[in-house]
Amino acid sequence: MNNESVITNYNLLDDNVMDNTIRPESIEEYVGQTDVKENIKVFVEAAKMRNEPLDHVLLYGPPGLGKTTLAFIIANELGTHIKTASGPSIEKSGDLAAILSSLEPGDVLFIDEIHRMPRYIEEILYPAMEDFSLDIIVGSEGNSRNIKIDLPPFTLVGATTRAGDLSSPLRDRFGITSKLQFYTIEELRDIIKRTARVLDVEIEEDAAVELAKRSRGTPRIANRLFKRVRDFAQVKGNGIIDITITEEALKRLKVDNIGLDNTDHDLLLAIINKFNGGPVGVEAIASSIGEEVTTIEDVYEPYLLQMGLLKRTARGRIVTDKAYEVLGIPKN
Ligand SMILES: Nc1ncnc2c1ncn2[C@@H]1O[C@H](COP(=O)(O)OP(=O)(O)OP(=O)(O)O)[C@@H](O)[C@H]1O
Ligand SMILES: [Mg+2]
Repeated sequence: MNNESVITNYNLLDDNVMDNTIRPESIEEYVGQTDVKENIKVFVEAAKMRNEPLDHVLLYGPPGLGKTTLAFIIANELGTHIKTASGPSIEKSGDLAAILSSLEPGDVLFIDEIHRMPRYIEEILYPAMEDFSLDIIVGSEGNSRNIKIDLPPFTLVGATTRAGDLSSPLRDRFGITSKLQFYTIEELRDIIKRTARVLDVEIEEDAAVELAKRSRGTPRIANRLFKRVRDFAQVKGNGIIDITITEEALKRLKVDNIGLDNTDHDLLLAIINKFNGGPVGVEAIASSIGEEVTTIEDVYEPYLLQMGLLKRTARGRIVTDKAYEVLGIPKN
């Protein structure tokens, strides 16, 4: 298996491809996640009928599956504004108070990476979520007092790649919890065809399917690969994305035939070569490939588990027979 670096912007964590033109804006355009979508439609409809804010929503799942996109769609479907913040950026109680008091009735407050919010901020959020009130301490030590501020009713939409890291009191305050799943090849094909339409590029069916197969179940990757293949089609071909140009481009981009990238390979190979196929603890894997434990758990493992290439056991991670097969390594 070759270890040359994959083009840098194929990195799963690289989030600069925030292409708003291809981001779906309505629930109809949002491909896949059928159960999540159907439920949210009903809850939004019901909230609107009762003229109440939508219950707080927690969206979780691996990066690039459409959490942020869905948060914006929820606000759109509610016909309200959305204010955004990210967990680690809310450092002081005043930061949260400022955001909360800027909301208008019915607004959506989207907090990304909500698991990285400091605990003392979480505690201020509890009454805000429950009673739409803010309890804050003002004044200096010895001369402080509690004041209570009423907030407009709002909907908190939280997104996280690790629901397990949320404290249970916070998790319990979300009325709606939705886990986003990896997308099927058909769904990714539809996303790619939609992106092609929006960007006014012609793509042949078999090329779209091939790209879908290599996208690691993830729309963000599908769109990224699409854009790179489009470049090849433009420069090396006639602008139309067909299967020949797609395969050539993917080969040059060093995306393997099931969409695994270098880190996926490094991870599986480390377990095979250094730990005899496992079982091995995630910390040992992390240090041997120079990645953070959380990155492995949140970004890489979910897809490898889903593909049946890796197994989690009580004693650690094991590489499956299928992984040996995919990597072309004989199991001894
Ligand atoms: N269901 C979908 N249908 C069509 N396109 C989608 C869908 N979900 C996501 N996308 C596309 O994939 C891109 C990545 O999605 P998004 O930014 O919402 O992921 P995320 O789950 O918030 O990721 P992160 O955890 O990294 O914040 C979006 O820009 C959008 O174009
Ligand atoms: Mg996001």
